[in-house]
Amino acid sequence: MRNIIITIDGYSSCGKSTLAKALARHFNYVYIDSGAMYRAITLYFLRNHIDWSTDEAVQEALANVQLEFKFNPERQQSEMHLNGENVEYVIRDLVVAEKVSEVAALKWVREFAVAAQRSMGQQKGIVMDGRDIGTTVFPEAELKLFMTADTAVRVGRRFKELVAKDPSVTLEDVMANLEMRDYIDSHRDISPLRKADDAIVLDNTNISPEEQLEFAIGTAQQLKLNTNC
Ligand code: CDP
Repeated sequence: MRNIIITIDGYSSCGKSTLAKALARHFNYVYIDSGAMYRAITLYFLRNHIDWSTDEAVQEALANVQLEFKFNPERQQSEMHLNGENVEYVIRDLVVAEKVSEVAALKWVREFAVAAQRSMGQQKGIVMDGRDIGTTVFPEAELKLFMTADTAVRVGRRFKELVAKDPSVTLEDVMANLEMRDYIDSHRDISPLRKADDAIVLDNTNISPEEQLEFAIGTAQQLKLNTNC
């Protein structure tokens, strides 16, 4: 059976990565968390006090950024490495989330990340989640999903994750961050977050991860049958 490309785009914290990981496991595909790349670049910029208001500084900094997903057999997941260091956990912190949308809106950053993402999809057999995967990275993808969920539900889910790591995080901090990122991501000039015309909308406010997985697998199977791929 021929491999396909599955893209999952959508707002912050609406369960894209949960679905993407489960789909990749089901089809034995590679899962790529494109947001982890933007988060790792942001971490590098913050740590190295890069002034990202100038193109020169951004280009110079990107020349020193090496990103790699490495499989962690203990946790059975692939994890983001920045210049050889495992940064999978630190990139999830709110300090990075506070700046990531600003950094991800930069032209040179997008070119850098999109080129890497496209090369990862050359063999197909990939599930990639993000904001512009179905519109810009793989506009020819066979299956495109666009996920959404009520803001309160999304904030609650992300708060639970973050407070487990840092008890000083408040619900208000998380809500402000999600709203700010969604706004910047949807309004930036280059590759703003939007549903691809041919994407299927999946609102998971009231459905469980199992139900959404079942729906996505069914849709992918149907597509594979119809297109013989
Ligand atoms: O997990 P969550 O949905 O909150 O965010 P993420 O997927 O880790 O992405 C973090 C940020 O990276 C987003 O808010 C966007 O600013 C940026 N991003 C992007 O611009 N394009 C992508 N394809 C993926 C992420």
